[in-house]
Amino acid sequence: ATAPVITIDGPGGSGKGTIAQKVAQFLNWHLLDSGALYRLVALAASNHGVSLDNEQSLQILAENMDVQFLVDDPEQPIRVILEGDVVTRDIRSEDVGRDASKVAALPSVRAGLLQRQHDFREAPGLVADGRDMGTVVFPDAELKIFLTASVDERAQRRFKQLQEKGMSANLADLQAAIQSRDEQDMNRAVAPLVPADDAFVIDSTDMNIDEVFTELMNHARQKG
Ligand code: C5P
Repeated sequence: ATAPVITIDGPGGSGKGTIAQKVAQFLNWHLLDSGALYRLVALAASNHGVSLDNEQSLQILAENMDVQFLVDDPEQPIRVILEGDVVTRDIRSEDVGRDASKVAALPSVRAGLLQRQHDFREAPGLVADGRDMGTVVFPDAELKIFLTASVDERAQRRFKQLQEKGMSANLADLQAAIQSRDEQDMNRAVAPLVPADDAFVIDSTDMNIDEVFTELMNHARQKG
């Protein structure tokens, strides 16, 4: 029997990462941050001097890069290790995010990451967040959530997040970046950002994390 999966898809800054971590922690399930995998391909490419046009080499990186996700403290972000280096913070930069969105448009890169993502599905269950978790990677998931929020609200959240991490940020730049990332993610030919037909859509623009968590867990209970 395969382990149950809850998928949480949505645009950047919708809060899906935070919610996914909270749900996984609450249920004591595994967590997959699939966006981190695309960010890691982008970072690995830059480390190895692989061009973002070189689809074949990018696929080889996607399949073979040495990645570890370490949960030492469930309250803290998962530690991400790429080829022995701690890159938890490095993969969160705007540059890496933009490059991740570029490599994510390449079918071979997506195919190269598929097995890695399926490997996260282990007992007692998995919470997976990303763009295509409910549509492509885990189409048979027990519960699918599509979490969204207005561009303005998402830019505000990113701004606060970056400030808290002591990184510099500019609100107008963030808005523009979010908008262009949305367009890139929604309009690509493979695995575009769309809610699965059977996903519950939650608009978190006027909700805090606890409210989103409660609504999601209500859906989970109704599903049994
Ligand atoms: O969610 P995050 O901002 O970390 O994702 C970085 C980029 O990776 C996204 O802009 C998107 O292009 C890509 N991505 C994807 N499919 C996923 C997760 C992320 O295409 N399942």
